[in-house]
This record gives sequence, C-alpha cells and structure tokens, in this order.
Amino acid sequence: MLTDSTGHLPPAGSRDDLKKVAVEAARRGGAIVQEKARQGFRVEHKDVVNLVTDADRLAEQAIVDTIRSAYPDHRILSEECGQHVAGTSLFQWVIDPLDGTTNFAHGFPSYCVSIGLEYHGRCILGVVFDPTRQELFVAEIHRGAVLNGVPLHVSSAASLNAALLVTGFAYDIRESPNNNLNHFSRFALRAQGLRRTGAAALDLCYVAAGRFDGFWELKLQAWDMAAGVVIVQEAGGRVSDFSGGPFSIYGKELVASNGRLHDEMLAVLRQG
Ligand code: IPD
Ligand code: CA
Ligand code: CA
Repeated sequence: MLTDSTGHLPPAGSRDDLKKVAVEAARRGGAIVQEKARQGFRVEHKDVVNLVTDADRLAEQAIVDTIRSAYPDHRILSEECGQHVAGTSLFQWVIDPLDGTTNFAHGFPSYCVSIGLEYHGRCILGVVFDPTRQELFVAEIHRGAVLNGVPLHVSSAASLNAALLVTGFAYDIRESPNNNLNHFSRFALRAQGLRRTGAAALDLCYVAAGRFDGFWELKLQAWDMAAGVVIVQEAGGRVSDFSGGPFSIYGKELVASNGRLHDEMLAVLRQG
C-alpha cells in the first residue's frame, strides 16, 4: 500500500461516501456502455484513427450527473468535455467514461469506465469497471485494492524473461517518430510475452491483479491513469516515469509494474 507522504486525506467517513458515489457512477456508466453495445451506437472520428461514440458521451453524462448531484462543488475533468466543473475545491474527479473506444467500436470486449479522485493534487481513490466481465476494481489510498471485493496483489515475476507485459500506442502513431515502436521492439525480444489490449486503465488493473507483470506507455492522458495508478500501488506495485522518478498523471509517461521488474523495465526504456 502507499505510504502517506503529505498527510492530506479526507475524514474516513467521507471517504466511504466518496467511494460509494464513485462505484455508483462507474456502474451507471458501464450499464449505458453495455446497453449501447447491444442496441447499436454512432461513431464519429476525432481524426483518422481516433474515434468517439455516443456511448462515450452518454456514459460521461451519467457519470458526471451522479458525481455532481452528490458533490456539486467538486472539480471534474472528463475526457470528452474537458474541465467540466472548475472552482477551488480540493477534490477533482478525473474521468474516462469509456477507455478502449476502438475496442468497443469493433465489438472487441476489452473496455471500461475509469474514475479517479484527486485530493490536494494526489490520487486517493480509483474505480475501474469492466462491464463486459462485470469486474469492478476499487482502490483507496492506505486501504488496499479489490476486485469484486476480493483483495488484489501484483505478481511475483522477478525478471523480464518470466514476464507478460502490456503497452499501448497514442493516436499520433503515424505522425510522430516518438511512437513507442522502439520500446515495443526491445521489450518484444526481452519479455516472455507482450500484448497490446487497447484500454490503458484496464491494463493497469491487470497489473494490479497479477494478470500482467508490467505496463508502460507514453502520451497517456490524466483520465487514462488516475484510477489505475492507485489500484496498482494499493495492490503492492510501483509506478514511475520512464527515468524512475516520481509519477504524475499529468506527466504523460508511465511505467507500472509488480515492483520486482521495475528497474529492468527502466533499463530497457533508457536504451531509447
Ligand atoms: C486509449 C486507450 C489505449 C491507449 C491510448 C488511449 P481511449 O484511450 O487507453 O489503450 O493506448 O493511448 O488514448 O481513447 O480508448 O479512451
Ligand atoms: Ca482512455
Ligand atoms: Ca475514452
């Protein structure tokens, strides 16, 4: 579990309420996404390969409404609408209403709702809901991580030779030379296996659950990571930037691992 470096935490009772609201919002968002998967959805292009659907927007609306009706003054940062509610609250919700939109649009069942909560600028709560498998990942700072109520622990893999890794690629993969293909090639030759599943928040939960041993990606957005990093850390894992330095959800570089593999992963990333 995380050690308390700043001491800033809301009172225990209000933390229970925050968790309840986050879980309710994630389940409502997930139910809408699944309903759209069954009934059909509209796809728009943000650019050639970056999609958004009405499922993203409807889920976001339901999530934001749920949070706002409980906490009208809390700040909200959400993928499709940006900074929804500004202000001076110490709380900020960071939401990806549908992480894995490309998968969703193709009917590939690997997507989720991701809701993180910052307090005093630190992520203190993460809820990720996979509506296709009805898997609910929840973690609270200092209180551990659970999957459907069962405690989560990272894996014990001690070397890349024994590790199943996962990564992803940003939507500018065709235009930018800094597109992760260099790291992908190196890790493909070092790890036991390497996957690209297409939903970063879920990748992080799978590291927490020991299904993957390590994850890295660059150019991620705050809403891709805010919930998942708390879940990884509370499951006993480590998160950092590519140099092993402190991690920020606004930093766009993330390595998450079971801890034992971390330095070996950083060494591969250093090779550029
Ligand atoms: C994307 C997914 C994908 C990651 C991309 C993200 P979206 O989020 O998390 O796995 O590789 O970098 O943008 O667009 O499906 O919410
Ligand atoms: Ca996302
Ligand atoms: Ca999204």
